[in-house]
Amino acid sequence: MMKGNLIEKTTAWERFNHWVLAVSFLILFFTGLGFLYQSLNWINTIFGGNHLASAIHKWTGLVFTLSLILTLGSYFGEAIRFTSEDSKWISSLGGYFSKEMEPPPQGKLNAGQKLFYLIVVVLFGATSAFSGFIIWLFPDSRGLILFAHFLHNISYVVFAFAVPLHIYLGTAANPGTFRVMTRGTVTAAWAKKHHGRWAKDMGIE
Ligand code: HEM
Repeated sequence: MMKGNLIEKTTAWERFNHWVLAVSFLILFFTGLGFLYQSLNWINTIFGGNHLASAIHKWTGLVFTLSLILTLGSYFGEAIRFTSEDSKWISSLGGYFSKEMEPPPQGKLNAGQKLFYLIVVVLFGATSAFSGFIIWLFPDSRGLILFAHFLHNISYVVFAFAVPLHIYLGTAANPGTFRVMTRGTVTAAWAKKHHGRWAKDMGIE
């Protein structure tokens, strides 16, 4: 939807859910870091000590999981539609590493965003949620718990690398992008530069 010279990229509901996802993620990330390393256990004193931090981690995990499920309505349909523009985005590595290799105009999500959504958010989000609930609900089944801890730690590492990169790309690396998560609108120039095909579909020449 156009609003003067601005185009709406996210609805108020999508922005709200993204903030729920971001804040719950940060709480999980920091309490998780406190559990993972003895030397960083002091982090959990900020959350009221290990016992309270553990309860906060579990219930925030539930919020994070619900928020993850709700992202399916916002991004899944777009993310699974792979086009030749996406293959070209991947083969030119998004144009990030060379001036000659410019990817073609992208749709509402570029291939990098689609892969981030499908692999990190959906696949590892589901892995961390599934394993987290096993650790929470079946504390006495030893073999299962060991495997669940393994899956939980792997997904932690994936998120620990991917989310800071996602935050950097959504803020400092691409000026004009963060407002997608605050106001929900972008300028016509931003849309043409980053999502050319989407801009054209929205009637911007
Ligand atoms: C404070 C932390 C975060 C910031 C500043 C941030 C920023 C952003 C921005 C600016 C966008 C819009 C990009 C665009 O439309 O071009 C976006 C989209 C998105 N964010 Fe975040 N984000 C944060 C945390 C997270 C977390 C923790 C997750 C999931 C675990 C997440 C998942 C997504 C997804 C799936 C999208 C849509 C696809 C994409 O643009 O990559 N975000 N975020």
